Amino acid sequence: MNTKSPFAPPARKARGYKKVKVLSLVLLALCWAYWRCPSSPSQSPIAWSPCREDASFLCGYLEVPTDYKDPSAGTSKLALTKYPATCPESENLGIIITNYGGPGVPGRDASFGEAPNIRKLVGNRHDIISFDQRGLGHSLPKVNCFGTAANYQRFKANTVFETTFSVPEDPFSPEGRAVLVEQQKEALALEDAQGALCGSTMGAEALGYMSTTTTIYDMEEISRVLVGEDALINFYGGSYGTVVGAYLGNMLPHKAGKIYIDGVAPGDIWSNEHYESQALLRLLLTDSEKTYQLFLTECFNAGSTLCPLRIQEDKSAQDIELRIDNFVSKLQAQPMRVANVTSPGYLTSGGVLSTMFLVLQMPGTWARLTDMLASAINHGDGTELRKFVTRAPGDPAPPDPEGYVETGQGELLRLAISCGDAPPYRADEKWPTAEDIVDDILISLKTYPRFGATVHLMEQHGGCQFWPGTGVGPKRFTGPFNKTLATPTLIMANTHDPITPYAAAKYMHNTMGNSSRLVLQGTIGHSYLAPMTDCGAEIIRQYFAEGVIPEKPETFCPREVDNFFVDQEKQEAVHFKLLNQVMGGQ
Ligand SMILES: *[C@@H]1O[C@H](CO)[C@@H](O)[C@H](O)[C@H]1NC(C)=O
Ligand SMILES: *[C@@H]1O[C@H](CO)[C@@H](O)[C@H](O)[C@H]1NC(C)=O
Ligand SMILES: *[C@@H]1O[C@H](CO)[C@@H](O)[C@H](O)[C@H]1NC(C)=O
Repeated sequence: MNTKSPFAPPARKARGYKKVKVLSLVLLALCWAYWRCPSSPSQSPIAWSPCREDASFLCGYLEVPTDYKDPSAGTSKLALTKYPATCPESENLGIIITNYGGPGVPGRDASFGEAPNIRKLVGNRHDIISFDQRGLGHSLPKVNCFGTAANYQRFKANTVFETTFSVPEDPFSPEGRAVLVEQQKEALALEDAQGALCGSTMGAEALGYMSTTTTIYDMEEISRVLVGEDALINFYGGSYGTVVGAYLGNMLPHKAGKIYIDGVAPGDIWSNEHYESQALLRLLLTDSEKTYQLFLTECFNAGSTLCPLRIQEDKSAQDIELRIDNFVSKLQAQPMRVANVTSPGYLTSGGVLSTMFLVLQMPGTWARLTDMLASAINHGDGTELRKFVTRAPGDPAPPDPEGYVETGQGELLRLAISCGDAPPYRADEKWPTAEDIVDDILISLKTYPRFGATVHLMEQHGGCQFWPGTGVGPKRFTGPFNKTLATPTLIMANTHDPITPYAAAKYMHNTMGNSSRLVLQGTIGHSYLAPMTDCGAEIIRQYFAEGVIPEKPETFCPREVDNFFVDQEKQEAVHFKLLNQVMGGQ
């Protein structure tokens, strides 16, 4: 980000907590005086206490009905964090509930890195509330089909779940298609196996309550408990969080407050199309190639110190592109050995392409990931890259004082939610065969030869026909997504987002009509992982802090930085951690 940022100075740590505690005591005293408080802090259903990880946050749990319509279903437990407003109490504007995407990014843990960024955008007058969706992180029940992270790692090792598709030279020839069909058959068998396993270890009923629909009811409950029955719900969501935002506004239009969503996946396609048709992915990949081309140009212009993928002799970005293409083709013909005890095995073309696709999403990781790619591509050492592709566990985490164990199956939470949201196949509907699926992938490959087959397995999402939770549990929300909202939703898109393009944001904006405003900003990366323009930041600040709705339906914020390789390091650690969480690593 550049230096003339309008961002508020960062709040001092721990101050917010002290203030809350003091205020609680005052409130308690007043309660005794008047005997009229609805609930004293000690009766509050959430017992907040400073988080172990960062004492400027408060952590707590909220027990919620497992089924809001059926008390006999028992209760579930949500893990929450609160990043308290630092303004005087009289200026407090309430809460903003967040969702950081995936599905599968644990809100509690992600908030320690991201909530301070959100405060810089929205100002210091809201409490920022983050939570783990059911099935995830510190919430209960938790998706744990395999017992341990290591078991799940073993299940995926060297399969298409890990390597993703390797695309033959000519995928449209009968031989090429057969190579893809073979891999898709393996994927179907893996989906079938893990589905059956999750059915026996978790049970369909528990999984059936994991969905975006349930998440909205949980958010309503959080708002009810923290603010009040009729409070409007403010929301900040990125990536899959835009699906949550769309559901929120359209399931509870009367409670829709300020809803800001960044990096759109359209809710109606999400909830009404079988993933196997590739309809959603084809829309989402719209800017993938354009983003890759800009990445190469930025790399060339940044020079080999900042972007080790570039070598001195390169005359243009095309030289870098050619070298990577040749490397991928060589791996396609013959996977490369990695003879290093830290990650022994081999590297495939699919592994390189899916890493490349991740790189495009997060400029904050460019320093680290381009170095790793350059080691493999320019110097023939695939050790680090293979470590990354296999998400080889790092140092074991120190024991958690609360006994919490990371099960490393966040990818299956993605499946739990997306299958909870997806249309079940009807009894008379034929499940797609490997051939059917590959034929749809080939359509994607016609338009997107480089990444058209990459995301399909890199983000586990399909295979809901095998998932025990599909079609189980509360009635899933399927739209319509065009409800009239008192406060228009603020939609953000980036000009170069490889997986949630402007086209998807525009699609949603068209669906919502006057109930949304669209901002397109000139930046590269996925959703909130891209560096924000000052222009976009100011629109968000005004929306949350001053209630200003952009007058025009669409606003364009042009690019503000010279080169995206420069000055991204500060975001690296935060986003690298996030990446590991969402990709199921440790
Ligand atoms: C294995 O890889 C590490 C870096 O990951 C490197 O330091 C070490 O020298 C490599 N060992 C061999 C035998 O190549
Ligand atoms: C909202 O969408 C539904 C379903 O797509 C459609 O039938 C209805 O006419 C739309 N309403 C408005 C006001 O556009
Ligand atoms: C759209 O919304 C704006 C403010 O939110 C309002 O001033 C305007 O009249 C609306 N236009 C239509 C066509 O509803």
